[in-house]
Amino acid sequence: MTEKKVLLTIFGATGDLAYRKLYPSLFRLFRKGSLQNNFAIIGTARREWSDEHFRAVVQKSISDLDPTSAEAQSFASHFYYQSHDVQDPEHYITLKKLSDTLDAKYDLAGNRLFYLAMSPSFFGVIVKELKAQGMTDTKGFHRVVIEKPFGSDLASATTLNQAITATFDESEIYRIDHYLGKEMIQNISAIRFGNNLFESLWNNRYIANVQINLAESLGVEDRGGYYDKSGALKDMVQNHILQILSLLLMEPPAAFCDEEIRTEKIKALNAVRIYTPEEVNRYFVRGQYAPGRINGSDYVGYREEANVAPDSTTETFVAGRFTVDNFRWSGVPIYIRTGKRLTEKGTRINIVFKQVPINLFKTDVHKDCPERELPENVLTIYIQPTEGFSLTLNGKEIGADFKTTPVKLDYRHSAETVENSPEAYERLILDVLNGDSTNFTHWDEVAQSWRIVDAIRHTWDDETPDFPNYPAGTMGPKAAFELVEKDGFNWIWEP
Ligand code: BG6
Repeated sequence: MTEKKVLLTIFGATGDLAYRKLYPSLFRLFRKGSLQNNFAIIGTARREWSDEHFRAVVQKSISDLDPTSAEAQSFASHFYYQSHDVQDPEHYITLKKLSDTLDAKYDLAGNRLFYLAMSPSFFGVIVKELKAQGMTDTKGFHRVVIEKPFGSDLASATTLNQAITATFDESEIYRIDHYLGKEMIQNISAIRFGNNLFESLWNNRYIANVQINLAESLGVEDRGGYYDKSGALKDMVQNHILQILSLLLMEPPAAFCDEEIRTEKIKALNAVRIYTPEEVNRYFVRGQYAPGRINGSDYVGYREEANVAPDSTTETFVAGRFTVDNFRWSGVPIYIRTGKRLTEKGTRINIVFKQVPINLFKTDVHKDCPERELPENVLTIYIQPTEGFSLTLNGKEIGADFKTTPVKLDYRHSAETVENSPEAYERLILDVLNGDSTNFTHWDEVAQSWRIVDAIRHTWDDETPDFPNYPAGTMGPKAAFELVEKDGFNWIWEP
């Protein structure tokens, strides 16, 4: 494994994301040799921490990975802490001095990676000061990783983007969507473009509908403050769901590389219809959970959660039908569904194929045998918690009588494989170190996603919803089922 030389500065180093995701991912990269001797990490946040305390926190964050004590200490010795007020230009001068010292000490070739893992309201000022105080005046690469949310609508995202592009070139900006680092999301392209069986059928002549489900059984946990201002539409649809949709619907790229893939993803998003208010009301359903039971445990309703307004109208559930106006997808409903406190955690994509033109097995002879209906062929991609895919076909039931029966070809990665495969953040951080932006979102994708979502949000903001409207532990409000049923389909939800 080639070692990546880098000075990584994390803004928001005392936060939850850094603790739960970044430090363990960096440790895995250290273990595998992508980071060895020539790297240093500066953690910054407002709190006053010593290097010793910071290193102790980092060691604790990786304890689940069972490092030896020598390994943990050697890894943590590369971490330095600098208390920092992002709005104070003086503080960047101190940060620059420390950066230059570490650059020389660890022979980092001037390679600098800035990771913004804090409130987006500070992203603009941070990148401005990084440049103004000379933090990017080095010979090596300069890259910035930006966590979601990228703005809260198109207008704020545009302002933020202008601030960032004043310092960094688009090729240096890595907007993270952690779903793009998931094994089975990356597998979508392999399934589509590696199998003629699917790619030749991947259009409106053979596909009846597409279903993208991102269900969660968790509630808002301790993120009520953030979530109550965001809601499921901005939290999940604007980013993760529209990214998955673009990978599923894009044309085959001219080559499997970041620029070509991005071009096709943007084209796919551009073909998603921006709905009028009438269309939003027809095709989108929102929900909020009431108290309920999941697996024998009682849960409070959303409005009773900490840091949530008692009369909150924030949606914790969204179901909808996107319309794609291009040759390949015209007429194919693209259903999406996501929510908190649903029956179970399950991220699954269903590609539902059209029926054969005539059901030969439903003849007059068998007219009183309704079970001879042929179920549709369905390709299911299981993203999590299990990973794999299945294909349902129709075969003949064993016996003298001619009866068809559904057969499911099912492949899942073993629990051991899942356990040992790199975690999303680990992959994405390695991609940034390698300068590969394939699995990151380009500004044009972000902007178009906001246009699509803003139209829904504005329509919803004009009306007060009748919340709560689904009990915790169910798959959302009745209207979400009706949305699909009125088109003659059903949500497919199989483990
Ligand atoms: C995050 C959302 O982006 O994704 C959370 O902010 C959500 O609300 C999470 O719970 C889901 O991610 P995963 O990887 O657990 O499916």
